Amino acid sequence: MSLTHFPGGGSSTPISTANPITKVTMPALIEMKRQGKPISALTAYEYAASRLADEAGIDLLLVGDSLAMVVLGHENTLSVTVDEMLHHTRAVHRAVRRALVVADMPFGSYHGTIAEGLGNAVRFVKEAGAEAVKIEGARIDLVRALTEAEIPVVGHLGLTPQSVHRMGGYRVQARTAETVLQLKADALALADAGAGAIVLEGIPREVAAAISGELTIPTIGIGAGPDCDGQILVFHDLLNLTFAPPAKFVRRYGDAGALIRSAIEHYREDVEHRAFPSDEESYHLPEAARQALDADQNLGELRKA
Ligand code: KIV
Repeated sequence: MSLTHFPGGGSSTPISTANPITKVTMPALIEMKRQGKPISALTAYEYAASRLADEAGIDLLLVGDSLAMVVLGHENTLSVTVDEMLHHTRAVHRAVRRALVVADMPFGSYHGTIAEGLGNAVRFVKEAGAEAVKIEGARIDLVRALTEAEIPVVGHLGLTPQSVHRMGGYRVQARTAETVLQLKADALALADAGAGAIVLEGIPREVAAAISGELTIPTIGIGAGPDCDGQILVFHDLLNLTFAPPAKFVRRYGDAGALIRSAIEHYREDVEHRAFPSDEESYHLPEAARQALDADQNLGELRKA
């Protein structure tokens, strides 16, 4: 076993032979905040995209329960199961060498007793290679229990999608003095209970800035303005792989939807016009086998005559 030192909280330049890996850990993220280095985070659900994101230097990959919607086509995140989340976390874990892999605990997996929440979190670490788990809401006792069990925790406050029915839809949160103060108190309590980072989703920029300024652990924003210590986006939003108008906070950095659609249409047309595959894309018989078959065919012709 080696004791690895993580001086600057990881290098976020893409992995290459010139830039060897410095594994990102939860303490490294806290160090990044201390040094004022923004944290890049993205959701991830499967091997190829996770590998590309890791090689592109993303610091934190979250196997988000948004998987229910963007990968499995459900209406909201509520129906995804622990087993489904474990399956995808394993794929992401196999792809990643540098980023911190965080698994989202799905709805129902930590809403009962502390023992149940702990048991499910242990599965993500033990069976799927997660290096931290994310839980929504101010579940202070659970965060303390997970921390005591050596499981790093990312909290998630503000617009928490698993509370969609209580919130009455996906609405921006903390818009009144009372709810702002409650959110701040929740963030401080989560940090005090041992959370290593907190996702702040769908809240006014000013509130996110104030919370980020008060905490020593990093905040990762989504729809929470530019003053958080890091930012996270859903992979499918970033690349236009969704089928509805994007939320205000989404910036599209590429149009994989258009690329994939056009490539597939082109392929279909080539098949329909017998333009695919070409002779160069086909396997050919070795010369000896061809001659043997030709001779055999000649024999057959002779016998017939
Ligand atoms: O599941 C998810 O994608 C998330 C992010 C929006 C933070 O929780």
